[in-house]
Amino acid sequence: FSDFLTDTFDRQHDYLRISVTERCNLRCTYCMPEEGVPLSPQRELLTTPEIVLISSLFVSQGVTKIRLTGGEPTVRRDILPLMQQIGALRQHGLREICLTTNGLTLHRKLDAMVEAGLTGVNLSLDTLDPWQFQIMTRRPGFSAVRKSIDRILEMNRSGAGIKFKINCVVMRGLNDREILPFVEMTRNEDIEIRFIEYMPFDGNKWSKGKMFSYEEMLEVIRAGYPDLQRKAGHKNDTSKTFEVPGFAGRVGFITSMTHNFCGTCNRLRITGDGNLKVCLFGNAEVSLRDIIRKVNQGEPIDEEALESMKQAAMAQMSSDKLSRSGPSPLLAPNSDELLNV
Ligand code: GTP
Ligand code: 5AD
Ligand code: SF4
Repeated sequence: FSDFLTDTFDRQHDYLRISVTERCNLRCTYCMPEEGVPLSPQRELLTTPEIVLISSLFVSQGVTKIRLTGGEPTVRRDILPLMQQIGALRQHGLREICLTTNGLTLHRKLDAMVEAGLTGVNLSLDTLDPWQFQIMTRRPGFSAVRKSIDRILEMNRSGAGIKFKINCVVMRGLNDREILPFVEMTRNEDIEIRFIEYMPFDGNKWSKGKMFSYEEMLEVIRAGYPDLQRKAGHKNDTSKTFEVPGFAGRVGFITSMTHNFCGTCNRLRITGDGNLKVCLFGNAEVSLRDIIRKVNQGEPIDEEALESMKQAAMAQMSSDKLSRSGPSPLLAPNSDELLNV
């Protein structure tokens, strides 16, 4: 494994998340205001050749998993050719290509994406009620998302082997009544339903009262499924996994608010405008885009640009020590302290 992806805490960063667009076709209340987020000018965003180039550098250094995120990645016009080109990196050691999506238009693109090498889908769905969907996402679209889910399950029944997780942010008074129906979905289908604690972001009107904690979720689920049991996890999981014995699927929890998991996080992040971030909550960023554009001046990448990117990434990892050595303000291990925010 390349030294360049091993940080001072000896974590090997073999998982790269790339934001391929800042835009989204929904407006989930916990994520974005009605008017959307401010968008960077087009020229500042990574082009497809630049994303492929950065991906190939990281794969050559030991990254084995790439997740495309957004915004909503499927709204990028050339998402399919992009995925095809990333798919070609499987010959160089890339093993998993994953997508985090709201599923609104996925049903139209899924088959081609799987053909291109897609191995996993994390789909955001917070409610099984079409009206509640419209309240939480400020847009209609429940039936389209359902169509995507059905297509994934159908493809898996014919052996596609897509790792499928549903992300569900639980908010008190909105969808907390739906925890048990979501768990019920795991009875016959090989899905992982992951309940996520509501996190504060700039301007998302977070409040302690609206957050439904991991402990509370467990209590609700155990009332309906008393034999729910913990499964052994993998070393870099950010979620805790459980199952109801005999059920086909699993139930997970992302407990960013009440249980810190920074110590084992192995994710590297590239923002839409090409900055490398080691931590979701770390402030330090380095622009890989500027390095490629400066060294390269529009020509195909050369050794010098590769070396500069490596140096910058290494420097970034050691400078971001703060967010890795201790809890970030949002990830206090002591939830009482946090919830006094
Ligand atoms: P897999 O482990 O590959 O399934 O993906 P993932 O859970 O990393 O990705 P996904 O895009 O589905 O993100 C799920 C949730 O985890 C989101 O709410 C993210 O904001 C959150 N998340 C991902 N990485 C981190 C992290 O490092 N810290 C915190 N606090 N939350 C994270
Ligand atoms: N709190 C928790 N999870 C969030 N997500 C977006 N905003 C928040 C928030 N404020 C989740 C989405 C998606 C994942 C990538 O991040 O539901 O599944
Ligand atoms: Fe945010 Fe995802 Fe909802 Fe879009 S679908 S508004 S990116 S949480």
